[in-house]
Amino acid sequence: MAKQALWLRCEKKQFERRTAITPTTAKKLIDAGFEIFVERDSQRIFKDEEYEAVGCKLVEHNSWPNAPKDIPIIGLKELPESDEPLPHTHIQFAHCYKQQAGWSKVLARFHRGGGTLYDLEFLTDEQGRRVAAFGYHAGFAGSAAGALALAAERRGVTLGQLEPYENETAMVESVKKELGGSGKGLKVLVIGALGRCGRGAVDLFRKIGVEEDDILKWDMAETAKGGPFQEILDVDIFINCIYLSSPIPPFLTKEQIASAGKDRRLRVVVDVSCDTTNPHNPLPVYSINTTFSKPTVPVEVGEGNPPLSVVSIDHLPTLLPREASEQFSEALLPSLLELPNRKTARVWVEAENLFRQKLAEAVKAEGL
Ligand SMILES: NC(=O)c1ccc[n+]([C@@H]2O[C@H](COP(=O)([O-])OP(=O)(O)OC[C@H]3O[C@@H](n4cnc5c(N)ncnc54)[C@H](O)[C@@H]3O)[C@@H](O)[C@H]2O)c1
Repeated sequence: MAKQALWLRCEKKQFERRTAITPTTAKKLIDAGFEIFVERDSQRIFKDEEYEAVGCKLVEHNSWPNAPKDIPIIGLKELPESDEPLPHTHIQFAHCYKQQAGWSKVLARFHRGGGTLYDLEFLTDEQGRRVAAFGYHAGFAGSAAGALALAAERRGVTLGQLEPYENETAMVESVKKELGGSGKGLKVLVIGALGRCGRGAVDLFRKIGVEEDDILKWDMAETAKGGPFQEILDVDIFINCIYLSSPIPPFLTKEQIASAGKDRRLRVVVDVSCDTTNPHNPLPVYSINTTFSKPTVPVEVGEGNPPLSVVSIDHLPTLLPREASEQFSEALLPSLLELPNRKTARVWVEAENLFRQKLAEAVKAEGL
């Protein structure tokens, strides 16, 4: 039987250094009999040579449109906007199944080209949980951004541009340095602490030296009494990592902040969940997503009160491209190993069924 081939394309989104296949995963696929093509890409956190060293075949940057039609193309983010038909099988996050802006135009390209989309967001296990997600490093990086915002505030300045870190250690060391050596003495609260993002958020605080007793870890049990919560005002940094699935009372309100006046300890809120535009956003104290170039937005706190800022970046794992990619790619590996049997393997069959359903909706919407 011919070898299963897989083509790792470059990412065209600015600042995106992550990848769906790392050299570690590529080696495991090659050992299992795969042939892996990798587009040269200087933006990717892993060097081309790292792929070559494990037996991948390097191909020209952005050359996937000319790849043989029977080779699945894997990438992370959306393809640049275009009307070009897509004849290949693509494995990626496409963000077009929940009626997002332009959703039907993206799917129309598959219709015209006869290609197939396996959306990474919808590869799920038997329990319906995603097989691979970036949550852990979102929480980890979110806590780091929060600690950096606090350090900046203590110096009387606003946190400047954030840049991706080479690795976790570099991030931890940089945060410790900005805090004057360690996070000891900080008091923090993580809500959603049992989830993927929450676990990452807690781990960063441990690694920068915050004492275990000073890392308050809340999940469903602790918020069952219903917000708003005074406890949030009594920590230095609050990290929200919940998965919002139904309306809940707010965790924090503007009135609560105003009435706390000068007695508020809280200086930084990191909304990892980023339900910013959701009408049930449990943090109705800010209304925009922040960015790597401008990581914080100030909250109106009332004349004479201590400042409070919010970090609400919705692509936090990009700050740790190496580890985030390794963890995501490793989680994806068992499904990738099933790729040769994708017409019968549950994970791929279900993803293809969903694609066919969404494709039919798009064909109707576009009047094709
Ligand atoms: N900002 C980013 O870059 C980024 C990246 C990845 C994920 N996210 C978002 O982070 C959120 C969490 O993702 P995840 O993968 O960690 O989800 P998850 O399902 O692994 O964890 C969510 C946790 O929140 C808890 N929770 C839910 N409702 C709660 C409530 N009312 N009170 C207390 N705890 C509650 C759950 O019990 C669970 O432990 C999602 O909204 C996701 O879209 C953001």
